[in-house]
Amino acid sequence: MAVFWKPIAGRLLLTVSLTLLGWGVEGQGDRQGKKLVSGDVTVYLGQGRDIWRPIIHTTSNVSEISCIKSSFQLRTFDPEGAIFYGDTKNGEDWFVLALKEGMPLMQISIAGSLVSVMGGPQLNDGKWHTLEVSNQDDFVILDVDGSKGLVVGMGGPAKQTEDSHAGVLRLALGGILIDKGKMMIQFDHKMDGCVRKGSWLDLRVPWEVEVEEFLPCYQDILPGSYFPGTGFAVFNTSVFPVKEYEGIKIELHGDFSKMHGTILSIKAPGQEMMLTLTANNNTQEVNLSYGSQKISMKATFNKLVITFLDELLQVLKKQEKLQDLQVVSVKNSGFSSTWGNGRLAIGGLLGEGEDNVGSQFLAGCLDMIQIQDRDLDLDFAVKHPSISSHSCPA
Ligand SMILES: *[C@@H]1O[C@H](CO)[C@@H](O)[C@H](O)[C@H]1NC(C)=O
Ligand SMILES: *[C@@H]1O[C@H](CO)[C@@H](O)[C@H](O)[C@H]1NC(C)=O
Ligand SMILES: *[C@@H]1O[C@H](CO)[C@@H](O)[C@H](O)[C@H]1NC(C)=O
Ligand SMILES: *[C@@H]1O[C@H](CO)[C@@H](O)[C@H](O)[C@H]1NC(C)=O
Repeated sequence: MAVFWKPIAGRLLLTVSLTLLGWGVEGQGDRQGKKLVSGDVTVYLGQGRDIWRPIIHTTSNVSEISCIKSSFQLRTFDPEGAIFYGDTKNGEDWFVLALKEGMPLMQISIAGSLVSVMGGPQLNDGKWHTLEVSNQDDFVILDVDGSKGLVVGMGGPAKQTEDSHAGVLRLALGGILIDKGKMMIQFDHKMDGCVRKGSWLDLRVPWEVEVEEFLPCYQDILPGSYFPGTGFAVFNTSVFPVKEYEGIKIELHGDFSKMHGTILSIKAPGQEMMLTLTANNNTQEVNLSYGSQKISMKATFNKLVITFLDELLQVLKKQEKLQDLQVVSVKNSGFSSTWGNGRLAIGGLLGEGEDNVGSQFLAGCLDMIQIQDRDLDLDFAVKHPSISSHSCPA
């Protein structure tokens, strides 16, 4: 961002009154068939897409910029993802603000030199935070909730030539407009988070919407993974290491009485279904089937730990201080033949082929999903865009 701020830094002093609140709040219109929104629109950044294209973006002439400050609010439980991108010279000079490990990460490329800085407060606590990115002399500054978050010194040649007043500036939210390989620090771009009340430089041009429709930003959110009943998330089982003699341990937390549909299914293409876990909110039953074993449970627990081996299944249900452990032997589990090349789906029943067609999708929220004692991040699955990986509506 420093790029297009630098040439105008001198002019900032002249720009005393900033009319940042201008463009219609609900402004929506059409520009050559593209849906347009105002820059202060509330945007869900995720959309679960595998491509890095942003959710919304805008273009202006550098010569029209007189303010060197952008501010907006961000809310997320997601530790990693793309937030805000800007470039000039058709992507030659660029700026990216992302989260990684829950902390702000800024990467800036100017005239071929790359700078990155990460740190500041943990932002993925599900609360709205006010972020402000500005450029002062040779520094790019990120303020978080009114305090200094990160400062990057750019140094380098300070003299700007006249032609840096010209050219086009592009801004984007929820993705980037250049090849992700140019990042100095790689990150997963998918961001289950919301941005609102944006004020971008002093631009009042509308933003173009890149997606069919905006997914909702719920009023209140809680940590978890939310499945609206329209799709599932699929992993290759081979990414989960098997502990010898210990098998696979899957732990799920949530209000099972409010879930409806397939919570979990595991299957290899061309083979029998190895494991399914389903919930029915009408009968208040949670059913588990693994090989020859079928277990039907009353949905009166909020923690479920399933551990399975070739010929053994262990089910632990917990509710408050009560817990109930069941250990049963299993025939024809299919474990050893399935795990190597199988798929594990959260929120739906795997189909026959390899083409990730599912059915009986889950409606509900899983507060926590762990496999082999590690949190499962659905951002790393092949998943339907409707699933939010790190938050559930409260
Ligand atoms: C940028 O400037 C050119 C001419 O200088 C003009 O045609 C164009 O509409 C401007 N673009 C924007 C987004 O203001
Ligand atoms: C699973 O593995 C296949 C190749 O065996 C690969 O094409 C696919 O992308 C993998 N899926 C995930 C979710 O990693
Ligand atoms: C769960 O299992 C029980 C007993 O096998 C069966 O009667 C019931 O229909 C099953 N429920 C669902 C939702 O599959
Ligand atoms: C069960 O879940 C379905 C799907 O979300 C929902 O439409 C229905 O209202 C729920 N029923 C009850 C009794 O909660």
